[in-house]
Amino acid sequence: MKSSAQAAATATPLAAQHREALPATPEALLDAVLAANRGTTNPRLKQILDALLRHLHAFAVEVDLSYQELEVGLDFLVRIGKATGPEKHEGILLADILGLATLVGLIDAKRSLAAGGTEPALIGPFWRAAQPLRENGAPIAAEGTPGERLFVSGRILSLDGEPIANARVETWQASPGGLYENQDPHQEEMNLRGRFQTDADGRFSFHSVRPSGYAVPVDGPCGELLDAQQRAIMRPAHLHFIVMAEGYKTLATQIFDADDPNAYRDVVFGAVGSLLHRFERQSDGSFRLDLDLKLEAGTMRVPMCPLP
Ligand code: BEZ
Ligand code: FE
Repeated sequence: MKSSAQAAATATPLAAQHREALPATPEALLDAVLAANRGTTNPRLKQILDALLRHLHAFAVEVDLSYQELEVGLDFLVRIGKATGPEKHEGILLADILGLATLVGLIDAKRSLAAGGTEPALIGPFWRAAQPLRENGAPIAAEGTPGERLFVSGRILSLDGEPIANARVETWQASPGGLYENQDPHQEEMNLRGRFQTDADGRFSFHSVRPSGYAVPVDGPCGELLDAQQRAIMRPAHLHFIVMAEGYKTLATQIFDADDPNAYRDVVFGAVGSLLHRFERQSDGSFRLDLDLKLEAGTMRVPMCPLP
């Protein structure tokens, strides 16, 4: 029988051999991790994973990431998941405050923008799936909703200016109190939300109230991150639109009140020049907003809706 010293002596060369086969440097480790992804059969998924792995590894090397910091990051992601449910989508909020949602919207709209299409803006966490279908010209503000009156009249057009009939237009906005209806027990269910269908001239319209700016929700892990970064948490006043029409790429955008003091300081980087509009004051003191929204030809897609 071998003594334990003899066993260790015979094991050493094997262990050394084995060690040679294992990735001992960050570069060799990355090669091994990329090789493990070679079998991914979906080519787009493989492309995304390859790039993600390269960037993740480069990031960890660049910042000299410690294991403790990795744990903090993983815990943050777990808490983002736990803070997400039918009432709130913290994951979307994270993509928004990182500027990722705005970036991806711009990437998606590259061709449309080059051809004069309407600039996109993120959907955010407050779109609801069951927004009520309303007649054109109807109010979306329940009786008693405070605020200055606003009439919105829009046209949905192709890139060459042809009206798009029967387009589905989803709209939602915060109240002058700075809260969406689902955040505010004082507002009626589905207040300041609606779904419209464009007429033969591609038109839709509704009565509402002038929205105001608001703070993004900071009661979850995204709030901690914003706090650590010492960032301002306001969004300028805006109305959301999602336009869906057969034969056209879906457009998600927002129209911002150019007179809002935060018009150029949007915490989620959505307010861009072409989306800033003046709400025109009328002789009776109410406001009016006229819009043309231009869609690129393509395949319609119904975006993921964060709230029921
Ligand atoms: C919104 O516009 O509704 C929104 C967007 C990002 C974060 C929070 C709210
Ligand atoms: Fe909003």
